Amino acid sequence: MGKLWGGRFTKQTNHLVDEYTASIGFDQALAEEDIQGSLAHVTMLGKCGIVPQEDVETIKAGLQTVLDKIRRGEIEFSVADEDIHMNVEKNLIAEIGPVGGKLHTGRSRNDQVATDMHLYLRKRVVELAGMLHELQKSLIGQARDNLDTIIPGYTHLQRAQPILFAHHLMAYVSMFQRDIERLMDSYKRINVLPLGAGALAGTTFPIDRHFVAEQLQFDRVYENSLDAVSDRDFIVEFLSHASIIMMHLSRLSEELVLWSSTEFNFIELDDAFCTGSSIMPQKKNPDVPELVRGKTGRVYGNLMGLLTVLKSLPLAYNKDMQEDKEGMFDTVATLEGALQLFAPMIATMKVNKSRMREAVNQDFSNATDIADFLVGKGLPFRQAHEVIGKTVLYCIQQGKYLLDLTMEEFQQFSPLFDDTIYEVLRPETVVNARNVYGGTAMDQVAEAIKRGEVLLSMTEQWLAEHV
Ligand code: ARG
Repeated sequence: MGKLWGGRFTKQTNHLVDEYTASIGFDQALAEEDIQGSLAHVTMLGKCGIVPQEDVETIKAGLQTVLDKIRRGEIEFSVADEDIHMNVEKNLIAEIGPVGGKLHTGRSRNDQVATDMHLYLRKRVVELAGMLHELQKSLIGQARDNLDTIIPGYTHLQRAQPILFAHHLMAYVSMFQRDIERLMDSYKRINVLPLGAGALAGTTFPIDRHFVAEQLQFDRVYENSLDAVSDRDFIVEFLSHASIIMMHLSRLSEELVLWSSTEFNFIELDDAFCTGSSIMPQKKNPDVPELVRGKTGRVYGNLMGLLTVLKSLPLAYNKDMQEDKEGMFDTVATLEGALQLFAPMIATMKVNKSRMREAVNQDFSNATDIADFLVGKGLPFRQAHEVIGKTVLYCIQQGKYLLDLTMEEFQQFSPLFDDTIYEVLRPETVVNARNVYGGTAMDQVAEAIKRGEVLLSMTEQWLAEHV
């Protein structure tokens, strides 16, 4: 059998053209979706009296056979048949004969491929939301175990004010929550059926698009046939949400890398998630977070790639649009790979509480609180800032920390100091003084964890409704 569209042609296609234009090398990943869409389409053709019911049954059985063979790896895809759509159709016709040729009635590859992409991406979005949810669970678990663990909080990567380690972890829970909500929101625009748009204008056959939508569990059908086949916004949107997720993961990665350095020594990643060096036997490298940090680049690249493909593209299908696939597949694989590792890596990470304590005891991150103390005694904040600046400078010169100073030393800087300052300066006091909604005080973080648990169960419910 020659090309399915061979009628108009007088020559064979140059084999380099076949190879250059074929997408079967990568779009075979859409085989399940392609056949799922075809089954719904042909069922509709039967219901609308466009194809006789017995032919519909033959085609459905044939499609099922082709699907089973693909699953068993028994079908050899052919580059001459260009893409998954034509490969499936060719194999269907080989299986059941010319009646298989009725499947493509009232349909074009343009609305077919768009349908496949919608089916594919809606599954992935649910999967990814589930994986982000698992990561949130790991983070919340660690937060629960570290409700009394204080670390120096940093700005400019310089010690700023002490915070709970749990508070730091819960910041990531909030970030990943936004990611989950973005994916949930995008689902509404993914779950729209393009099929029935034909090549661009609709079709002369009396099809029923809403019936197909119902069978494939799409919430809506595209309003405009031209938009239905031209639209790749839902993929751009996915790639941009994916980029934000990778950006978040890369920030967490960077902190994990820093924290596991000897200089910080705040955490230790489990051996199962690290690798060694081929030359330096002592080394244990945080390769996973490093690679996630690095792979953020390709995910951004895939976004820029598709935006550029679509820029200035005239409406309806253009072959350029075949370039929408590899970047999307690559982004899905990159993201899923990262998230699958992150959830257990965070859950098994060891937190070096004593080292964190040591770091907190050896810094000036309680300096804001003594300034606030003097303000409480009536000194204007600017003056208090100046006094404490001098006190800190004195400490640095003496090789001391604020808590090491005697009352006489304190009083050299201000007569307003009294014994209560030692309590004010304790890291626990400093942390618990930030008792505002969303702050780092233990009670606040305990509340934040409770709110996080509510969010977890809301996501669980959404996931159960979108399997
Ligand atoms: N392989 C094509 C793609 O992935 C399928 C649609 C082809 N349509 C066409 N009119 N050539 O975009």
